[in-house]
Amino acid sequence: MSTSIFIDQTVTKSEKYVQLLPQIKALMGHENDLIANLANIAAALKHGMNFFWVGFYHVKQHDLVLGPFQGDVACTRIAFNAGVCGVAYTQRKSIIVPNVDEFEGHIACSTDSKSEIVIPVFSGGRVVLLLDVDSDQWNDFDQTDEKYLQELAQMISVIYVNSQI
Ligand code: SME
Repeated sequence: MSTSIFIDQTVTKSEKYVQLLPQIKALMGHENDLIANLANIAAALKHGMNFFWVGFYHVKQHDLVLGPFQGDVACTRIAFNAGVCGVAYTQRKSIIVPNVDEFEGHIACSTDSKSEIVIPVFSGGRVVLLLDVDSDQWNDFDQTDEKYLQELAQMISVIYVNSQI
């Protein structure tokens, strides 16, 4: 099995996602450990899409706790009702933030972060994980990111159900 991901960086964002998602799916098909799979997904997104920061927050008993990620060190715990992640969790929906300075309650793990998208991952009707992507550019995420990252979140839901933690 090849473990490398290849994305043609000269194509559009949509085309990059179209190349990336099947490669992630193939990579996940061989492993049932959740942390190992989330770690590889974070790496595949960071390098395949050139994201500034990408990672997961686990929904734990009392708050959202940092999981596998790629990028600079980040906040380890976020209250259920705090930050962009907290809003995505409580509202059970994806949130696109074009300008983090204009989002009330945004938690700045890095001062270089300028825009953000957070996608919930569901299992058994509950939000179990949040996929968080930050950019160092303003207004860097749109409906294309939402569409394909939600598709990825569906794949992660399947992995979650079938995985060992
Ligand atoms: N900005 C997030 C916090 C996590 S960092 O971006 C990695 C938020 O407001 O929830």
